[in-house]
Amino acid sequence: MINIKDLVYEKNIFMNLTIIGTGYVGLVTGACFAELGNKVTCLDINPAIIGKLKQSKVSFYEPGLEELVKINLDKKNLSFTTSYKTGCKNNIFFICVDTPDNGRGAPNLKSLNSVVKKLKEEIQRDAIIILKSTLPIGTNKLISKSLNQHFKSKGINIDVCSNPEFLKEGSAVRDFLYPDRIIIGTSNDHSKSTLAKLYKPLKRRFNKFLYMSVESAELTKYASNAFLATKISFINEIALIAERSNANIKEVQNGMGSDKRIGSEFLNAGLGFGGSCFPKDMKALISYEKKHNIYNGIIENALLINENQINLFAKKIKSFFGSSLKNKIFILWGLSFKPNTDDTRDAVAMQLIRLLSPKVKALHLFDPKVKRQSVTSLKNYSNVKFLNSQYEDFENANGLIVCTEWEDFINPEITHLSKLKDRVIFDGRNILDANKLAKNKIAYFGIGLKYFE
Ligand code: UGA
Repeated sequence: MINIKDLVYEKNIFMNLTIIGTGYVGLVTGACFAELGNKVTCLDINPAIIGKLKQSKVSFYEPGLEELVKINLDKKNLSFTTSYKTGCKNNIFFICVDTPDNGRGAPNLKSLNSVVKKLKEEIQRDAIIILKSTLPIGTNKLISKSLNQHFKSKGINIDVCSNPEFLKEGSAVRDFLYPDRIIIGTSNDHSKSTLAKLYKPLKRRFNKFLYMSVESAELTKYASNAFLATKISFINEIALIAERSNANIKEVQNGMGSDKRIGSEFLNAGLGFGGSCFPKDMKALISYEKKHNIYNGIIENALLINENQINLFAKKIKSFFGSSLKNKIFILWGLSFKPNTDDTRDAVAMQLIRLLSPKVKALHLFDPKVKRQSVTSLKNYSNVKFLNSQYEDFENANGLIVCTEWEDFINPEITHLSKLKDRVIFDGRNILDANKLAKNKIAYFGIGLKYFE
C-alpha cells in the first residue's frame, strides 16, 4: 500500500492547468500535479463523477488516490468542474479521455473529437494542449492541424504535444511521482520548456526526460505496451514447453530474468494479460500494420497466444475431472485483471467465468475489492454467486481456481483449503506453494509447472 507521506520530492513552482477526463489517467495526473504545487482544474462531462469528486469520493479503487484528492481539495490546489468555460480560463490542457477499441481493432476517437470541438468553442488565447490519451500514430498532427486552422483567423496559436502516460493501475500514483521516464513529443521550444518546468520535480530525481517527435512519442507508448504483452506471451509459450519437458517455469523465469538484458519483470507465466490497455493497444498496432501493408505477425501472435491461455487452463480443469463438470462447484479467487485494482475490464477471470459457467454446477466468486454491484456483466449468469469472505463455502466446493495474484491469496490457510471436496487447486498465477499443498494432500495445477499430488 502506498503511503503518500513517504513520497519525498521537491515542490514545483506552480502553474494553472486543466485536465480533461477524470478516469484513471486524468485523475491521477490532476491529483499528482496538484500535489506538486500546481493549481489544477479537472474537467469531466459526467456530472455524477464530478459531484462525487467534489466530496473527495473516487469512483474506482486506486491506492493513495482518494487521499491525494482530499488533501489537495482541502489545500485548494485541486478543483472539479463540468464547465468548459471554467476549464478554458487556463491555457495548459492535458487531455486524458478514453480511447476504447471501436470493435474493429482501431481506437474510438469519439471522446477526443468532442473535447476538441469544445476547446474550439471556448479557448480565447494561445494554448498548449498535451495529449496523454493513447492515440493512433498521426493523431497529434491531425488535431494540431484542425485546431490551428480553426484559430488562425483569431491569431491564436495552439501547440499540440504528445506526452504518453506509463501509469500502471494499482500503482498509478507512485508511477506518476516516480516515473521511469517522461516522454515529450513536440518540436515547439516554448512547450518543451513549459513541460520541463512542470515536470521539474520529477525530472530532477530521475533524469529521464526524453524529447522526441510527436510520432515517435505516440509509437513509443504503443510499442512499450505491446513489448510487455509479448514478453508475457513469450513466457507463456515457454511454460507449455516446461510442462511437457518436466522443467519448472519459475526456475526458468528466474534463470532468464537474471540476465539484465532480459529482466525479470513481466516474465511471470500465468493466465496472461488483461485490462483496458494491452489488448486494445496491440489491436491498434495490428490494425495500423494491416492498413499500411507492413503486417509481420509478432504482435498478433502474442495476442492470440494470450487469448488461448484461458482455453488451455479450462482444458486442464476438465481433464483433471475426466468426465463432465456438470455437478462440480468451484470457488474462484480474484476477479480484477490484476491485484490492487477493482477494474475487471478484459480480466481473464471474467473470460473464465463465461467459459466455465455453462459447464459447471456453480461458480462462487471472491475478490478483495470487486463486489457484485460493480460487475453487471455477470447478472445473467444464474449459477454464479459472490462470496462475502475469502474462506466462505469451502466445504461445499469441489475445487479452487485462482485468477488474480492478490496478496491475500499467496499464503492461504491450509485448514480451509483441505475442506474442498476434491482437494484440488488450479492456480492461474503460480502464487501458491505447491510443495506445501502436496504435503497436505491437495492436488495442485499451476502454469508451466509439474502437476503436484
Ligand atoms: C499497462 C502498462 O504497464 C502501463 O505502463 C501503461 O501506462 C498502461 O498499460 C496504459 O496503457 O494505460 P496496466 O494495464 O495498468 O498498465 O497493467 P499492467 O501492470 O501492465 O498489467 C497488464 C496485465 O499483464 C495484467 O493482467 C497482469 O496480470 C498481466 N501480467 C503482468 C502477467 O500476466 N504477467 C506478468 O509478468 C506481468
